[in-house]
Order: sequence, then C-alpha cells, then structure tokens
Amino acid sequence: MSTDLIAPHGGELIDRLATAEEKQNFLAKADSLPRVQLDERATSDLVMIAIGGFSPISGFMGQDDYLGVVKDMRLASGAPWSIPVTLSVTSEVAEPLEVDSLVRLDNRDGKFIGVLQLTQKYSYDKKLEAKNVYRTDEDKHPGVKVIYQQGEINLAGPVWLLKREQHPHFPKYQIDPAASRAMFKEKGWKTVVGFQTRNPIHRAHEYIIKCALEIVDGLFLHPLVGATKSDDIPADVRMRCYEIMMENYFPQDRVVLAINPSAMRYAGPREAIFHALIRKNYGCTHFIVGRDHAGVGDYYGTYDAQEIFSEFDPEELGITPLKFEHAFYCTRTEQMATAKTSPATKEERIHLSGTKVRAMLREGKTPPPQFSRPKVAEELARAMKVN
Ligand code: ADX
Repeated sequence: MSTDLIAPHGGELIDRLATAEEKQNFLAKADSLPRVQLDERATSDLVMIAIGGFSPISGFMGQDDYLGVVKDMRLASGAPWSIPVTLSVTSEVAEPLEVDSLVRLDNRDGKFIGVLQLTQKYSYDKKLEAKNVYRTDEDKHPGVKVIYQQGEINLAGPVWLLKREQHPHFPKYQIDPAASRAMFKEKGWKTVVGFQTRNPIHRAHEYIIKCALEIVDGLFLHPLVGATKSDDIPADVRMRCYEIMMENYFPQDRVVLAINPSAMRYAGPREAIFHALIRKNYGCTHFIVGRDHAGVGDYYGTYDAQEIFSEFDPEELGITPLKFEHAFYCTRTEQMATAKTSPATKEERIHLSGTKVRAMLREGKTPPPQFSRPKVAEELARAMKVN
C-alpha cells in the first residue's frame, strides 16, 4: 500500500534547528553578538520556522516576500502565503545592527534562543499591512493593535533555533511536523483532516469534526497554544477539555491530538489560508474551515474565510478545505445540525457562541449540554472558577 504523504508547502520540510556544531559555534559567540529581544509572537514564529511549520519560510521575511504577501498573498517565489512573518524592532534597536552579520535572538526572559543572519532592514507601511491582511485599520482589532504597537523596522534573514525546548505543560502533545508526518505514515493514513481551534471544544466543533471524520482516514486535532488575546480561555484549560473528548467521545485510533505552538493573529480569511498551509506542513491533506474562522468581533463575514480559498488554484495550495456551515443544536431533531441537515426554524436553533460561553463561565454558570459535553462543561466551570 502506498502511503505517500502530501508534500510540505514549497516541496521541502524546512529544518532550522542548529546542528550540534552550529550551536557550539553560536554559544561561543554569545557574548559578542548584538542582541534583539523577541516578544512571545516572534518567539513562537522562530520555533514554527525552525520546525518546518512555516515551510517554505526559513527566516523572518525580507521586503520582497513581505510586500508580495501583504499585497498579493504570494511569496516572491510565487508560492501562496497570506500572513507576514516578520521581526519588527524600533529604529533605535535596528540602527546599530549591521547587515550581513549575525544577531543573537533572546526571548522575553533574556535567554539566548536563536540566531538571525541579518540580510536586510526595511521600513514598512503599517496601515497597508493592517488593511490588506486584517481588512481593517482599526486599532481595536487585536491583530492590528499588535502591528501598531510593534517597531517600525523589519529585520530579515534566515534563522536558527538553538534548541527545541519541551513544552512546559504539554510535552506529550508536542508533535512537530516531521513527527506528525511519521505518525500518519505509520498509521497508513492517506487522508488526514486538520482542525484548528483556539476555544474550548463545544458541540458544534465536535459535529463538524465528526462529519469530516466520516470521509477521511484520520483527524489531526491541533489546538493553538501560542499567544491569544487576554480574554480567550487559557490553553491548559482548553487542552484538558480536548483530553476529556479524547478519553470519552473520539475514536482514539483515528485521532492525533497535538499542540500548535503558533500565535493567533485574528486575521479571519487570510489566517484560514495560513492555518491550512501550516497543517499541510504537518502532513494534513484536508483542513476544516467553519463559520468565521479565526475571526474576531464583526470584522469578517461568516463565510469570508471559506470564500478566500477560491482566490487560489487548488493545486498550488495543495491542501483541501472542508467547509462547514454554521452549526447549532436543533431542538426539533435533538441533535447538532446545520441548515444543510435540518429544517429547523430560527426558534428551534440554539446558537451559543464562544463569547456567550465565556460570559457564562465568568458568572459562575455551567454551559448547557446543548453547547458542551457535560464533562467538558464541568471542567470549564471548575477551571474558570479557580482562575
Ligand atoms: S478559531 O479562531 O480557531 O477559528 P474556534 O476555535 O472557535 O476559533 O473555531 C475552530 C474551528 O471551528 C473554525 O474552523 C471555526 O470556523 C469552526 N467553528 C466554530 N464554531 C462553529 C460553529 N458553530 N459552526 C461551524 N463551525 C464552527
């Protein structure tokens, strides 16, 4: 049986983990290199580049890639890419750095975690990036706010990660692209659907996941655990909910649960493409896109994140989106449904958004069974009371 996996985006899985020799060399220079401190997002971007999650990107973007992505959703090579991966610093930080030299990359705690071979420094238009990538230039948008707060110069060039650290809370679920690919191959899965989420799992998630599971060999349950906005439910609470689902409600032999270390952008449609390409790198052939994927507030239309896929030739994306309508609990058929599967009237549809549930949890209420599996609801109520 042939178990050829889908090729990574761009053809090769990028590996920018320093070799033992490179690491030794960098450590020997540690004190003499100029330093740049990375915020949480840039740190997770460095990791994603190093482990191949952002293949074919092998460093922070130079101006050609950056402008191609911002303006046309394409890298300079022509490959589709929808979200800038940049390292922005203030002019004061950028000024003394010399192009064609090495820069030491520290995390927020001042720990030496990587190296940038600086090939370019360039200024950029924040409003253009906001409008094109986020479809708004309002600073109330959490992704746009980040652009406005960051420095005005982008540093570009290939990077090395010194060490792939174990995740402090979820080492068991730290399955990087090379490992997930090996797992899918071993399981003999030819088709794998990826699921992105940043929220505690609810019945609508479960419904669309299970619809997808009916038509593919396996599911890659891939919650994002990188930086999210402050009112999102913390990652450890969300992971516990996924574990409960794995233990009780999913066929364990058809599901791999793993963490996605990257940071949320809340860029809606553009982020749906980004999320899909990341999952392609992890070895997924299909990717779930439901209602208002990666959206926030009222910035995007319910199905904008599905429609954007038609702007690309399916072959060049490689990964196939599985698009799902807005799912709800239907009181007439007493099950989860969408307008495609139930004749329910408006009154017979129970829609519960993540926002409503967060509000309920904050008031000390437990989400109802139409929204969450009771064991998940209990866990959420318990955790949010403590937090
Ligand atoms: S996201 O920001 O990561 O997209 P979330 O965790 O809420 O947020 O959603 C994960 C996936 O489930 C996305 O593809 C989203 O579109 C989909 N989804 C969430 N709620 C629903 C729903 N009620 N009906 C259909 N799809 C949904």
